[in-house]
Amino acid sequence: MNIKKFLTAVVIIFASVALLTACGSSTRGSSTTKSTTHTLKKGDLIGISMPTKADQRWNVDGANLVKYLKKAGFKTKIQYANNSPSQQSSDINNLVSAGAKAIIVAAVDGTAVGPAVEQAKAQGDIVIAYDRLIMNTDAVDYYVTFDLERTGILEANTIIDKLDLKGNGGKDKPLNIALFAGSDDDNNAPYFFKGAWDLLKPYFQSGQLVDPSGIVTKDFTVEDWKKISVHAWDQNQAQKQMDAFMTKLGQKPLAAVLSPYDAISLGVMKSIKNARPDMSPSIPFDPSHPDNKSAWPVITGQDGMDIGITNIYYGAQAETVFKNVALLAKKTTSILTQVADGKKPKPNAQPMNNGKKDVPTWLLKSDELVKNPKGDQKGLHYEVEVGFITENQYQKDIAAPIIK
Ligand code: BGC
Repeated sequence: MNIKKFLTAVVIIFASVALLTACGSSTRGSSTTKSTTHTLKKGDLIGISMPTKADQRWNVDGANLVKYLKKAGFKTKIQYANNSPSQQSSDINNLVSAGAKAIIVAAVDGTAVGPAVEQAKAQGDIVIAYDRLIMNTDAVDYYVTFDLERTGILEANTIIDKLDLKGNGGKDKPLNIALFAGSDDDNNAPYFFKGAWDLLKPYFQSGQLVDPSGIVTKDFTVEDWKKISVHAWDQNQAQKQMDAFMTKLGQKPLAAVLSPYDAISLGVMKSIKNARPDMSPSIPFDPSHPDNKSAWPVITGQDGMDIGITNIYYGAQAETVFKNVALLAKKTTSILTQVADGKKPKPNAQPMNNGKKDVPTWLLKSDELVKNPKGDQKGLHYEVEVGFITENQYQKDIAAPIIK
């Protein structure tokens, strides 16, 4: 090769490399996220985007993530989005601008957050969907959560057990039940409902359970879940929906309420007390006396919030599905640590599809807390034992009832 040909070849190679680089970066901000991921190192900044401070669990989740990530040698920056999808998108943009090399997102709205994580991905960030899956985008690397259907399974089994549905419960006369699902923008909500509905539906088919509002019938399917969802998991919204149910119920007895979250349960209880002050947690519903109109229904919940502990302690709520979120923060930290060590983290579950991609998934196990535990159930004090709340907080929780 003479010198002229050699120089021409060098120019062509440089031009091609420049062109390819330009093509790579042209995807920035678009929905196809082909940019290369940073090589994550210990000492890098990890951005954490949590949905709201208003719910107890996300404060604990956030504090745990900061604690464990720092312990593992990362820097952290955390933001709370006040339950606003647009706030969360700008939080994520800010975290990336602040230099975050990975972002951990518990989405307010799993679909609305897509473009923000796509931008993060286009900058080379690792994206972890935390507790709630981020939908319809390929810009999610990993998903960590608790076994979703288990929530509904535990709740439904408590109802089945307390109403004696495997025995005579509802066989002479159907028992009235109200059913609620979580927020319509949260991909977790239909899975929680599926876990419960798969178990409860047979009792609608046998005629032992009935929804007097007429919304849920024996032909209801999991796909219909949005008809009973409570937007933004909001307590006041739940109370309004329960008000409508109570109007339909009239003076009839109420056996149970399937609620997917402690704050929804509290909204439900307030509505019951307004509509039917005769009903009292001091008279628990007894399937062998199904006509007792003053009996208090079996009400489920999730998250082990302080209000949940109080309501269970004083008999207003039957159980709560408690997630030891320290384990979720530890799992998230271990995934990022493995990536920083050049290892490939190994999921413990089947990948979950978000509409665009099969996302590598880890599922952890929740616990059911009740006042008098049987079998695998745990007592209320378990939250102190695992460090979710302090002993002092527990004493406050059990000091006085909210609902009498
Ligand atoms: C979480 C639940 C929580 C609910 C309301 C869901 O996405 O998985 O643990 O109860 O949001 O905050």
